[in-house]
Amino acid sequence: MKIFVTGCTGYIGSHTCVELLNAGYEVVGLDNFSNSKREVLDKIKEITNKEIKFYEGDMLDENILDKIMNDNNIDIVIDFAAFKAVGDSVEHPISYYINNVSSVLTLIKVMQKHNVKKLIFSSSATVYGKQEIMPITEDMPVGNTTNPYGTSKLFVEHILEDLCASDNEFKVIIFRYFNPVGAHKSGLIGENPNGIPANLMPFIAKVATKELECLNVFGNDYNTPDGTGVRDYIHIVDLAKAHLSGIQKLNEIKGGLLIYNLGTGHGYSVLEMINTFEKANNVKINYKIAPRRSGDIDVCFADSSKAQKELNWTATLDLEDMCKDAYNFVIKNK
Ligand code: NAD
Ligand code: UFG
Repeated sequence: MKIFVTGCTGYIGSHTCVELLNAGYEVVGLDNFSNSKREVLDKIKEITNKEIKFYEGDMLDENILDKIMNDNNIDIVIDFAAFKAVGDSVEHPISYYINNVSSVLTLIKVMQKHNVKKLIFSSSATVYGKQEIMPITEDMPVGNTTNPYGTSKLFVEHILEDLCASDNEFKVIIFRYFNPVGAHKSGLIGENPNGIPANLMPFIAKVATKELECLNVFGNDYNTPDGTGVRDYIHIVDLAKAHLSGIQKLNEIKGGLLIYNLGTGHGYSVLEMINTFEKANNVKINYKIAPRRSGDIDVCFADSSKAQKELNWTATLDLEDMCKDAYNFVIKNK
């Protein structure tokens, strides 16, 4: 079975490609390297001893998508290609809407032309906005997004709902990822943001290696046990494996749209993250309490029982694994 993976050299895409290749799928990949490096392709080969059939190009380019569909008998598309930096999306909203929404419209158009009707789409817990009740279930209201990145994901979710309502043969899974962290055990692939990391785990890891001096803990006056923000961190390899379960599900159902949260169901605070990272790696993390970061919410964690029940998927790796693997990756890629 051939799987077309967009954004295949990115953080989640590369780990998913590894799991797909290991499971015996043929993988066709596309990336424009706007937020990743070509060398990731070699690393994927090093880990799996297998190769992706890779195309360099842009999701917005209908011709390359058309060529990929013509050259390959694609069964399922997994769409990871998007911009994802929350702060950047506030400064450049239109490029986020173009890259994250128009790209999906172009993709669907080409899929329809080639009669490819199975899609897994990467959405985010950010579509839930601020919820009063935890953990978050899939049927809770979405919509109060606080930045153009989140809104772009919400728009695509609506587009996919309308698509499935109009064509009962289309099969779509929307995964709402919570906070993916960590790296492949090999340390060959992981999260390698350009410049100063905006997210917690890559920032902590670079403080540990002394590439960065001190972590700013954004607020200790939230409505949480220790006052710092609580999130549902999930190991990237667990998250990647969920896509294998998603593929199986798409092959079973007749049509329609399914939505699944992907998290562990546990929330950890920023201070708990720091403590676990220190213990797991026997390092010291310098940190100071700083003002809240605008747009942040106090708590966000998933109820992932729907994925467990319907996809037979559950996260197996714990916070210590996430911290160890994140550190191993930064050490090997300094
Ligand atoms: P990433 O930036 O590491 O990977 C995205 C990849 O897509 C990159 O390799 C980039 O070069 C490529 N890309 C972007 N626009 C493209 C285009 N127009 N044409 C071709 N390639 C393009 O991001 P990631 O963390 O791997 O995220 C993957 C998906 O998961 C994204 O849709 C993201 O919004 C979503 N998501 C990520 C997180 C997270 O915390 N990492 C959380 C929720 C949802
Ligand atoms: N934090 C710090 N210091 C930092 C970075 C983060 O204290 O330097 C805190 C934040 O305030 C928050 C927690 O660590 O309480 C996690 O922050 P991240 O930036 O790692 O993650 P977010 O939950 O804010 O956002 C992430 C992705 C979004 C996605 C969201 C839900 O960046 O794209 O998860 O999936 F939408």
